[in-house]
Amino acid sequence: MRNALRFSKRSRVILRDECLRFGVAEAAKSTIACRPLDALIVQLGIPFPYIFIRTFRGSEYVAVHKTVCSLARERRNCHTGGPPTITGAFFLHFLHAMNKTATPQPEFALERHPQPTPADAITALIAEPVFGKVFTDHMVTIRWKEGLGWHDAKVGPRRAFEIDPACAVLHYAQEIFEGMKAYRRDNGEVSLFRPLENAKRFRASASRMSMPELPEELFLGAVEALVDIDRAWVPGGNGSSLYLRPFMFAIENYLGVRAASEYVFCVIACPVGPYFKSGKSAVTVWASDTYTRAAPGGTGAAKCGGNYAASLIAQTEASSHGCDQVVFLDAASHRWIEELGGMNIFFLMDDNSLRTPPLSGTILPGITRASIIELARAEGFTVNEAPYAFDEWQADSASGRVKETFACGTAAVVTAIGAVRHAGGEFTIGDGGEGQVTRQLRTLLTDIQRGKAPDSRGWVRTVEAQPVTAGQ
Ligand SMILES: Cc1ncc(COP(=O)(O)O)c(C=O)c1O
Repeated sequence: MRNALRFSKRSRVILRDECLRFGVAEAAKSTIACRPLDALIVQLGIPFPYIFIRTFRGSEYVAVHKTVCSLARERRNCHTGGPPTITGAFFLHFLHAMNKTATPQPEFALERHPQPTPADAITALIAEPVFGKVFTDHMVTIRWKEGLGWHDAKVGPRRAFEIDPACAVLHYAQEIFEGMKAYRRDNGEVSLFRPLENAKRFRASASRMSMPELPEELFLGAVEALVDIDRAWVPGGNGSSLYLRPFMFAIENYLGVRAASEYVFCVIACPVGPYFKSGKSAVTVWASDTYTRAAPGGTGAAKCGGNYAASLIAQTEASSHGCDQVVFLDAASHRWIEELGGMNIFFLMDDNSLRTPPLSGTILPGITRASIIELARAEGFTVNEAPYAFDEWQADSASGRVKETFACGTAAVVTAIGAVRHAGGEFTIGDGGEGQVTRQLRTLLTDIQRGKAPDSRGWVRTVEAQPVTAGQ
């Protein structure tokens, strides 16, 4: 298992003692208990978010935590090849390090909307939401200033920003964002899907754009605070959810090309239905031989607004050819398939293996992509993260070697690609509709997201309702 750490018996004892010492009693209990793999997943609270400890083959403990793994690898404190084995001492060191660097649970000042949308109006608004048009009552903001760091965390009514004409983002586009969803389960609970991955990617995007990195705990605290206060806006039913848009931009007023010294982080939310208005079972994509999305060394792997601005002209070109989306090819040779404007891409070959372009730095490391790879492998599919050329895709679709193609991302989930148009013509994939494996993988994923299937990987995080205190 990748990213899995095995612990010796002695390490388990140390781990249990350390958990107790840091007041994580739940985890300590679990380290003593010995239950089957799926029966036990413990999500530790701050300051050890997302350390999952579970039993493995009934006797060995496996902690799945990418930070531990990468730290362990970085310090060569594990064996390479096979699951990394770390020493109890290293894990101890990790716990101490986490404790020292942990950001305290953020305190958000709360100002409720003075005239919140009435319940019956919310019901009507979320009944058939159009993607990205309707917004909830509140927003979260946190500010950052050089010398002061993160401060002024607030949950308040959604309102306009007052922006000076010299505001840096308007000129130099220092802006990044995330896209994630909150789902309402049949039992009424509201949950997020792998939000820590969004928090990590947000940090990576910030780093690429010379912006301050928001600690994961603050990111998660902000997202959960908004979902909690606006939980009435989370639609139920398949295909609907509350889309969350965390973003950050430079708000310093200056003209001059350098990183700004002031930023605002914000989260807003909108109830959404299906991403593609047409509700078609498969979409048609346009392969542009004129425009590319990202070049090596550029910002393709960051989720920054500029990438999307640069892609709009290709999207216009696609629409003018009757296509729903663009499939971008690499900037250097215009040969290798990269991704769609807002989704990653997978191909099902006739040997039942899946293929997807590798994370080469020019495509966005999609959380849906990573989840599909893991789910597909668990279902017995071989998944190859390998370059695939556009001319191969065309020839393989004609010969039947490619049986299905689908795109995936938070907004559009898993969407079949039925046909491809390009300057030289058009080709169809399979029968032009949604294939069986595409449907199978989408169902596997959405069942976990919506709480209809067990979440054995600890991907789902329930948003607890915070007690409302007097005066709030
Ligand atoms: C360019 C691009 N690729 C891929 C994705 C899919 O990413 P995710 O699965 O994390 O939503 C997105 C969506 O955010 C995107 O904008």
